[in-house]
Amino acid sequence: MSVPVITIDGPSASGKGTVAAIVAQRLGFHYLDSGSLYRLLALHARRQGVAWHDEPALAELAGSLPAAFVQGAVLLDGNDVSMEIRAEEIGIGASKVAALPAVRAALLQRQRAFGVAPGLVTDGRDMGSVVFPQAAVKIFLTASADERASRRYKQLIGKGESANLPQIKQDIIDRDSRDAARAVAPLRQEPDAFLLDTTELTIDQAVDTVLRRFGQYQ
Ligand code: C5P
Repeated sequence: MSVPVITIDGPSASGKGTVAAIVAQRLGFHYLDSGSLYRLLALHARRQGVAWHDEPALAELAGSLPAAFVQGAVLLDGNDVSMEIRAEEIGIGASKVAALPAVRAALLQRQRAFGVAPGLVTDGRDMGSVVFPQAAVKIFLTASADERASRRYKQLIGKGESANLPQIKQDIIDRDSRDAARAVAPLRQEPDAFLLDTTELTIDQAVDTVLRRFGQYQ
């Protein structure tokens, strides 16, 4: 029997990571935040002095990315970089390296390796379309740009960081259009993915919707 996989794709700051992590915990499944791999690569490249547009060098780095996921922490070269990879600048670098076909190819098997028993919940942009096309449940999770900007704003203020709402909204819109316009694995809702618009939903309501859909599949 194949391992059950739930994919949650969607635009940046939609809350898909939060929802995916809770669903994974409720089901006792593994969890893969695929965006963290692109973020790790962007950070690793910067540390190695490799430009975010140097496709052959980036693909080589991606093939041997010294990354590990340990109890919710993201490690690079054995050091916890969980906070560092969340920086806005690294997010921008991630979306640049992620647009390169050789980089995506180099990270494909690494992502698929997470699909092991008892099951996997994973979030990203192409998890249902490219990485796990046979997934049991595919969700396209989104929210309005205003709502996503406001969530990101509250998150930053909550962490004691300074934040500019119009700038955050513009960054979100720019990143979405870069992710949607790229030639390889663009951000889009697959025909077989369930559209979950969380603009008016709480996290719990979004989690329940995903769990109900998984319940219907079983
Ligand atoms: O989801 P997150 O914001 O952490 O992802 C960072 C960037 O990595 C995204 O803007 C996107 O360009 C890229 N990404 C991707 N495919 C995925 C996950 C993330 O292209 N499956």
